[in-house]
Amino acid sequence: MAGEPEVLISADLEALQAAAAERAAGLLAGLVDERGRALVALSGGSAPPGVFRRLCAEPLRGRVPWGQLSLIWADERLVPFDHPESNYRVARATLLDHVPIPSEQVYPVATYYALAQAAEVYDRQVAALLEAHAGRLGLALLGMGPDGHTASLFPGFPQLDAGPEALAAAVANSPKPPPERVTLTAHALNRADHVLFLVAGADKAGKVRAALRGPYDPQSTPAQLVRPPQGHVTWMLDAAAAAEL
Ligand code: 6PG
Repeated sequence: MAGEPEVLISADLEALQAAAAERAAGLLAGLVDERGRALVALSGGSAPPGVFRRLCAEPLRGRVPWGQLSLIWADERLVPFDHPESNYRVARATLLDHVPIPSEQVYPVATYYALAQAAEVYDRQVAALLEAHAGRLGLALLGMGPDGHTASLFPGFPQLDAGPEALAAAVANSPKPPPERVTLTAHALNRADHVLFLVAGADKAGKVRAALRGPYDPQSTPAQLVRPPQGHVTWMLDAAAAAEL
């Protein structure tokens, strides 16, 4: 199934979010049709909330098999669950509080532990969840920063070189605040059947070009690490982010 990434361009962020919600709903329905359940990784950043809100409303809400989804996070900031910077809090406010996903199928990073322990616990939890899903991450919703990072895989950082046994890793001194984070590794993300990169804004146009058209250099553009051998990658861009393609 692996091949060249698909690139879809929308006029602006709103249109991108509408297209991404539509695409995500279809993929989730398809995955559950095929396998009975799906493991889904969510991200932080500016695009997901507008996608989540659309998924909560008809007509998409009725198409998503909410009861058969299990949720993990592609990355999380090491802050309490109710902190404004918490990716879990944003997902809860814009998605989880409004749809019938059983709370026992929602697996946020245990940010109440110290960094190393939080990452270790998540690594084991993700391993167990992947095992329960035949080794497959059904859908990963990812963003990309203007520096080419995705999840919390930052240019030049040691998590880029994690061994194949590592599914989650601790990040200290993140260039994007807050400084402490837990991230899925590329090995975990590369178990995906479907990856949607949601990227908007002119400040990202250079790295979109590098990621899609540049030489393979994941130390400078970590998003290039996400190339699931048995999965399909779609870049959903707004016109500004696509301007240099
Ligand atoms: C995070 C992220 C991160 C995000 C990108 C894009 O929690 O910081 O998950 O990887 O997806 O930084 O974020 P923006 O859309 O806000 O630029």
